[in-house]
Amino acid sequence: MGRMKCMAMPLVALALLSLFLWTADASGAPPKPRLQWHYYRNSCRYAEEYVRHQVHLYWNTDKTIAPKLARLAYSDCFVNGCDGSILLDEGPNPEKKAPQNRGLGGFVLIDKIREVLNSRCPGVVSCADILQLATRDALNLTGAPSYPVFTGRRDGMKSDAASVDLPSPDITWQKGLSYFQSKGLNVLDMTTLLGAHSLGQTHCSYVVDRLYNFNGSGKPDPSMNATILNSLRKQCPPRKKGDHDPLVYLDPESGPKYKFSESYYKRILTREAVLGIDQQLLYGSDTEQITEEFAAGFEDLRKAFAESMYKMGNINVLTGNQGEIRQNCRYTNKGKSN
Ligand SMILES: *[C@@H]1O[C@H](CO)[C@@H](O)[C@H](O)[C@H]1NC(C)=O
Ligand SMILES: *[C@@H]1O[C@H](CO)[C@@H](O)[C@H](O)[C@H]1NC(C)=O
Ligand SMILES: *[C@@H]1O[C@H](CO)[C@@H](O)[C@H](O)[C@H]1NC(C)=O
Repeated sequence: MGRMKCMAMPLVALALLSLFLWTADASGAPPKPRLQWHYYRNSCRYAEEYVRHQVHLYWNTDKTIAPKLARLAYSDCFVNGCDGSILLDEGPNPEKKAPQNRGLGGFVLIDKIREVLNSRCPGVVSCADILQLATRDALNLTGAPSYPVFTGRRDGMKSDAASVDLPSPDITWQKGLSYFQSKGLNVLDMTTLLGAHSLGQTHCSYVVDRLYNFNGSGKPDPSMNATILNSLRKQCPPRKKGDHDPLVYLDPESGPKYKFSESYYKRILTREAVLGIDQQLLYGSDTEQITEEFAAGFEDLRKAFAESMYKMGNINVLTGNQGEIRQNCRYTNKGKSN
């Protein structure tokens, strides 16, 4: 254990060095305006304060907003970049209708913030930025670290469920890693961002295979600790298609308290993870090292989480005169006036 920890340290330390050196268009894309620190400081001076205030008000009545926004930001950024396309209702089949996006929430708060900003500084702040800022502020209330959200994103003009390539929660970690890598993120980002599973819930349908018929064996997943197996079996009885599909916490320790913590990683070490992809972090040598490091030290997790959220928020952003600033986050400006 001690040796593993020492070996794992440089992984995180090295990655952290790159925090402010990392750029979104390292791929050789044509130069375009970059996101900026406090982009709205002249055009809408208190934009970030308005967002934070609304997030606080909402959190006081509904703490589920934190995992909801985190999931919304992930669903936005990983599919065609952080362009607010997940917020669109427009078109025959918007992204939010894709099966992987079932149960998304948080739209009501985004609408509320849009309304406030429309009255304070109309036409200035993008919905894509609202989502990133609100996510940071909501996560911060759960005890997740604060991280820099550079601003100046523009809103995308289209949203198509057919382009949603998000993996299902019941995939293997190898597939999860290939997916993250295809978006320019790495194994540390994946292991770190999965830590958001210390918040939030999932449907029983994504775990019943592990409980009753793992990989077609007719038996439970042998990597599961009996404690969590028995508790999940109570919450998720064997089901047939069409049966009620209850929700379970992804981390029964921190989830119900809406508290971001390292318990998610500790539970992986005691084989008490809820989703297969979480438990499988023990199967890869990099992911195992990182899991041990995070389980042992919250501070490392905090730093890595801040960096990975920052990176995620920079995936394929629109800037300059690309896209638009939507007046209503659910419709493009053209779509709204039609
Ligand atoms: C939340 O954000 C505030 C302001 O940026 C910061 O001082 C505080 O440390 C953050 N909380 C956590 C848990 O990081
Ligand atoms: C599932 O079963 C197949 C075929 O029996 C096997 O090749 C594969 O390794 C198994 N996967 C896991 C995760 O056990
Ligand atoms: C199973 O979980 C318990 C805590 O609920 C823990 O004490 C035990 O070590 C775990 N078993 C394994 C094999 O990790």
